[in-house]
Amino acid sequence: MFSINENYLKLPGSYLFSTIAKKVAAYQSENPEAKVIRLGIGDVTLPLAPAVIKALHGAVDEMGAAETFKGYAPDLGYEFLRSTIAENDYRARGVQIDIDEIFVSDGAKSDSGNIGDIFGQNNKIAVCDPVYPVYVDTNVMAGRSGLYDPDRGLFDGIIYMPCTAENNFIPELPAEKPDIIYLCFPNNPTGTTIPKAELQKWVDYALQIGALIIYDAAYEAYIAEDDVAHTIYECEGAKKCAIELRSFSKNAGFTGTRLGFTVVPKDLKCGDVSLNSLWARRHGTKFNGAPYIVQAAGAAVYSEEGKKQTKEQIAYYMNNAKVIREGLADAGFEVYGGVNAPYIWMKTPQGMSSWDFFDYLLGKVQVVGTPGSGFGPHGEGYFRLTAFGSAQSTLEAVGRIRNL
Ligand code: MLT
Repeated sequence: MFSINENYLKLPGSYLFSTIAKKVAAYQSENPEAKVIRLGIGDVTLPLAPAVIKALHGAVDEMGAAETFKGYAPDLGYEFLRSTIAENDYRARGVQIDIDEIFVSDGAKSDSGNIGDIFGQNNKIAVCDPVYPVYVDTNVMAGRSGLYDPDRGLFDGIIYMPCTAENNFIPELPAEKPDIIYLCFPNNPTGTTIPKAELQKWVDYALQIGALIIYDAAYEAYIAEDDVAHTIYECEGAKKCAIELRSFSKNAGFTGTRLGFTVVPKDLKCGDVSLNSLWARRHGTKFNGAPYIVQAAGAAVYSEEGKKQTKEQIAYYMNNAKVIREGLADAGFEVYGGVNAPYIWMKTPQGMSSWDFFDYLLGKVQVVGTPGSGFGPHGEGYFRLTAFGSAQSTLEAVGRIRNL
């Protein structure tokens, strides 16, 4: 008789965004006339940039000709993409990352879950609270937690680091010593970020206690302020203690196209064992590479036109962020984020719970957001809105919320 991975049974309910999608679908089917505005999941709405589309078409044609057809991609990703990443995302920022430290993948969500494969089950995990649920759920699935405590809304055995308005949504170093620390800046869900000097403190701490940082920089392209690091490797010593996750979803609209990469520096070791070799082994065995056409499209993001066009898309979304932030603040709501990130973190009015506010907003003005408590107990009483909608629907949503 086979058995299952019982860790999955510890997970309450379904994945946050699946729950929301089901609720919205149910509402829409009961109210077919309702014009629902979706500012819930952080999914982009602008079409892919022309430079990206051109590269996709070109790559599709290559796949149709015997001379240029490509089969399996190299394990770590095509060199043309990895070298342009090394140049543009790192060398241009004064950081030396070798191309064999870059592992191309089908996206940062997969990488943030899969990376756990190379770590032992007994590692103590630390996460921010609120937090992108994938970090927690995947560690629960891997057996790196105790049971879910419904009263506290958290899992035993995981260190939760509260991020609240009182600490400017910057976690404090935990009292209990972690082995693996997940950080995401600019942050999902709070839309806030951390000055480089604060990030350096985390790197120093990890080095001092022998912990590893898994740094999710998926929202790096949205950084507007100068004192914010675009990569954790801008911090001294980070190559000895940090893995960085990057995505093409938010900077270039690849949510449906799928592309990301992970940097595992060769200096990163556990005793004598190189994490780069372990991840290469895992990648080689379990992954057959992102499609050639998608990697070609990814390289086009770094072309002159690609950079210009994706920058315009980011400016478009950040204008939405400004509309939400300023529109809601002006109407008396307490709002955070939206300056270096495409998320606005608002306090629910009149002490409403996050899910009550979700239902209220959907039922009353047909605007969908994400309940803060879905990201952790310290998200209770907050609500996340994304700036990834169209300019028109964003404006309309803000108007509807203001008139509640
Ligand atoms: C979110 O809404 O938090 C993101 O879209 C999730 C993701 O990027 O997987």
